[in-house]
Amino acid sequence: MTVVGAAVPSIALARVPDGAPRPEDFVLVDLPREEVADGQVRVRVLTLSLDPYQRSTLGGRHLGDAPVGPGGLVPGRAVGEVVESRSPEVAVGSTVLAETGWRAEAVVPATAVVPVVVPPGVPLSAALGALGMPGLTAYAAHERHLRPQAGATVVVGAGTGGVGAVAGQLARLAGARAVAVVGSEEKAAIATDRLGYDEAVLRGPGLDGALAEACPDGIDGYLHLGDQATLDVVMERLAVGARVSLCGLMDQYNGAAPTRLRAGAVMAARAEVHGMVVHDHHDLALDHATRVAALLASGELVTVEDRCTGLADAPAAFARLMSGTNVGKVLVDL
Ligand SMILES: NC(=O)c1ccc[n+]([C@@H]2O[C@H](COP(=O)([O-])OP(=O)(O)OC[C@H]3O[C@@H](n4cnc5c(N)ncnc54)[C@H](OP(=O)(O)O)[C@@H]3O)[C@@H](O)[C@H]2O)c1
Repeated sequence: MTVVGAAVPSIALARVPDGAPRPEDFVLVDLPREEVADGQVRVRVLTLSLDPYQRSTLGGRHLGDAPVGPGGLVPGRAVGEVVESRSPEVAVGSTVLAETGWRAEAVVPATAVVPVVVPPGVPLSAALGALGMPGLTAYAAHERHLRPQAGATVVVGAGTGGVGAVAGQLARLAGARAVAVVGSEEKAAIATDRLGYDEAVLRGPGLDGALAEACPDGIDGYLHLGDQATLDVVMERLAVGARVSLCGLMDQYNGAAPTRLRAGAVMAARAEVHGMVVHDHHDLALDHATRVAALLASGELVTVEDRCTGLADAPAAFARLMSGTNVGKVLVDL
């Protein structure tokens, strides 16, 4: 690596988090500024995406991703501007999606950046949320796993989050009765008033009674994004023929025991249970981008974003995400 000019502000892992990450688990460092070689581009980060899968890479392993140990750059995806290019394919000034990591700028292969296209009036940050990986996850779970009929009842865990907010709106637009499970009264209000869920119920001790009222005919579809206690309660309220998508295990990522599924509840409901890995559904990317972009442009689908400013705030924002106090898709503007 040839180093040029000033240093690049970056966030490295200070120590492997024990349980839910804390801001002190990270450290702001200056990394050497690399030269752009043939076939590479320099991307200045505009908005960084914080996502729960990043937790799994910190000291551990997430699917095929390499683990990050103390001193390592925290990985992550961003929307950025190409400020230097040594590729005829990528113009300086273009806006792209790139795996930059948590840093102010990154030198990456030109073949690894994707142009960002959003409809007029839709923020570029949608490329990291509803039009990005979380949105594709929701779209694939909706199209391939839940497949709700009009009038069906679909329950979405973490219903106002990056994935959940899109999934809940797609269920509602398909004519289903959409019910959000959320962690606070504030999120419950966002779920019903902004995202159009028919009902929102709080996770925790009162969930079973609240779901009994919200889903009197049982649950036909469930998107699991959150915790074991919610999964247990929902599984016992499945309607016969229910479809379940196991998509996110927030408590397990923070070190809780591996999530368990109630076999008796699956049997009694003759349920279909699917495991979601978004990378298996890239063949839906064009459909997802076309359909969700049109819904965003028409205002039929809206986004909820939890934004902060400055790279130095990324660790605290990540800690909020992993402790469940974020409200919407977590983004850091640089
Ligand atoms: N399988 C895949 O391919 C794939 C792809 C993308 C994302 N995911 C998963 O989908 C889930 C949602 O991702 P996201 O980016 O949209 O995040 P998010 O929903 O914006 O944030 C996570 C939410 O999880 C909820 N939660 C429930 N129990 C929790 C607990 N014990 N600790 C912390 N949070 C808890 C919280 O919402 P409430 O307080 O409202 O419950 C929290 O806000 C994550 O588990 C993620 O790993 C999976």
